[in-house]
Amino acid sequence: MSMRKPGSGGGESKPRQDELHGNGMKLQQFIAHAGITSRRKAEEFIREGRVTINGSVVKDVTARVNESKDHVKVDGSLIRQEAKIYIVMNKPEGCITTVSDDKGRPTVVDLLKPTIRERIYPVGRLDFNTTGTLMLTNDGDFANSVMHPSFEIEKKYTAKLQGRISSFALNRLKKGVKIGDERRFVRPADAGLYKRNDANDVIYIVIREGMNHQVKKMIEAVGASVVRLRRENVGKISDRGLSAGQWRYLTPDEIKYFKRGK
Ligand code: URA
Repeated sequence: MSMRKPGSGGGESKPRQDELHGNGMKLQQFIAHAGITSRRKAEEFIREGRVTINGSVVKDVTARVNESKDHVKVDGSLIRQEAKIYIVMNKPEGCITTVSDDKGRPTVVDLLKPTIRERIYPVGRLDFNTTGTLMLTNDGDFANSVMHPSFEIEKKYTAKLQGRISSFALNRLKKGVKIGDERRFVRPADAGLYKRNDANDVIYIVIREGMNHQVKKMIEAVGASVVRLRRENVGKISDRGLSAGQWRYLTPDEIKYFKRGK
């Protein structure tokens, strides 16, 4: 949408249809991304006539905006987009991968305060005691690219087991197992013995899906159980070099890697 010059017919005049439906970001998404409300609420604001683009009220929920040029206001206040943030962390044990917790447990987002003030959230989940590679962002498209099964991003885990695993059980795991109430068949992209300690085996397993407790359930399905689980990488992103709880920004190349094909 092009900018109107001040005094050149702004006010309540109607934007042109081609301005409303051109390329760019959806208006409701733009408002939600600014962190002031949800997409659904933003849509309500638009319908209620509380939103203007370059001085013109827009009630069309399919309207789009040019993020770098357009001035969007809600109830007369200018909306500014938050800078996009992309982080990888070595998630420590004993914290949850949510933004807040009603039981008061520490969250991964707490670990980023006070440096990060933007509203960021974890990309996918790791269990309370699972450690390792976890990304956080405020870019919904990016999060979707990482998590959506159609992108088939491979995630590698190492799992310390209770005692030993037989080669029979490991082979069964490699061939795929049924898990969950729905008995869904899942086959790892790869799996094998990683390390044999005196008392425990450590195995690695690579999966493409991201079902709840998937790795633990797969391992349990062959009669073994996990005492410690760590995610080594998500695609080519890894927490290598970061100690527990430490984090870094993704590099431009790493960000592009997930945005490819978009
Ligand atoms: N699979 C699990 O069982 N737990 C995790 O935290 C991640 C994958």
